[in-house]
Formats: sequence, C-alpha cells, structure tokens
Amino acid sequence: MPFKAVVFDAYGTLYDIQSVAAVTEQAFPGHGDIITQIWRIKQLEYTWLRSLMQRYVDFAVVTRDALSYTLRILGLQADAATRDRIIAKYLDLDPYPDARAALAAMKDHRLAILSNGSPAMLDSLVKASGFDAPLDAVISVDARKIFKPSPQAYALIEETLGFTPDEVLFVSSNPWDVCGAKAFGLNVAWIERVTPDAMAAACNKTDLVAPLTLFKALRSQMDELGFAPDYRIAALSELPEIVAKHEP
Ligand code: LAC
Repeated sequence: MPFKAVVFDAYGTLYDIQSVAAVTEQAFPGHGDIITQIWRIKQLEYTWLRSLMQRYVDFAVVTRDALSYTLRILGLQADAATRDRIIAKYLDLDPYPDARAALAAMKDHRLAILSNGSPAMLDSLVKASGFDAPLDAVISVDARKIFKPSPQAYALIEETLGFTPDEVLFVSSNPWDVCGAKAFGLNVAWIERVTPDAMAAACNKTDLVAPLTLFKALRSQMDELGFAPDYRIAALSELPEIVAKHEP
C-alpha cells in the first residue's frame, strides 16, 4: 500500500538544532558547546515533565526556561538582548543540507510536519527555510496541549490530514520520537545520523567526553523502550526511494 502522507519531526530531523551553537558560542565564547547541549537536553526534559505534571506551556516558553536553567547553572549572566538573540536562532535554524531536495523529490505525496514547536515558532522556521512551499501542513502539538511522545500528539496527524496511522510514514531522527510514533501505530523511518560504531569510537577516544559527544550518546542512539523503526536510514536523502517503493 502506498503511503498517503509523509510526516516529519522538525527539530533535529528537518532542522539542525546544533546550528544554535554558532550563536551560543558568539554570545559566550568557549561555552557554546556546553550551552547548546544542556539547553536541548533540558528543553526536551521539560516537555516530558510538563506533560506528566499536566502543566503545559508552549514550546517557546519551555525553550526559554531551558535556556535560563542552562545559563544559571553555568554561572553565565545574559542581558535580555543576548537571551533574545540566542533564542531567535530557534526561529531560523539551518535545515539539514539534504532536506530541501528530499521534500522536492516527494512532492507527489502529502507532506507535513508534526512538532512539539509552538505554531508561531514553526511558522517562522518553515518560512525562513522556504519549506512552506513543499509542505501541505504544519501541525503543532499545541492544539492538544501535550507534547510528543503522548499518543494524543500523534493523533493530530489523522485529525488534521484525515489519514489513518497505517497510511502515514512518520520520519524522525529522535529515538524517543521514533518509539512514541511506533507505539502509536505509525510507519516510522528513523534517521540514524550517528552509527553505533561511530558513537562508541567517539566515547572511547579520550578520557574527556565533549558535551556534543555526551549529547549524541544520550539522544542519537535507539532507546531501550521495546520499539524499533520500520526503516533505518542514514540521511533524509534516502527517503524518496523508500517512499517510491511503496507505490502500487
Ligand atoms: C519536535 C522536536 C521536539 O517535535 O524534535 O520537532
């Protein structure tokens, strides 16, 4: 059965969250990497904590709070203008180099984003990258006021596009998102950008593990949650072939 729609995670999948490192490094020379990694780790942690606590605030607030935590624990002072400049990068993240071509190659399908991002954040991101043209829909979990990997968040795909989970290919590089989408019943492609061998080699290279390496060890490898993706690919550029193979 052909896929009726291909739905993407945004942060880390179409857009490179590590691209904030240039801005964090500029604001705090020598601290860019550690800020970037703790910020993202805390940002996601707050989405999960707030969902469990039933205390939803949107992803813009979560992102700001996670940055505040990060700067505070590192003992870094930032005035409002510096904070705003750092946060602003989230509205204009660099897309992965192969994202544009992959979307263009699948233009015969319904293409959408399902993201934890707030509607305003996603709107800016999609317009800044020019992805508003290839995408048919940008779905924010804000409509349900709960973050992925809650099933209520993935249910928004069918509510918005009208396709059942078995008709949709969901694409994410985030292992926790892959597991959540599989648990919900979607077909899932995992973008495995860091191979297990490369991961182990990076961790064993020196006694001192860099913040980015620790981040990758926590957030780039498949989780032990009892779910596995249907497709395991190294880059977005491999997607069009998978989608084409599902044609009748
Ligand atoms: C997204 C992030 C959390 O939902 O990866 O786009």
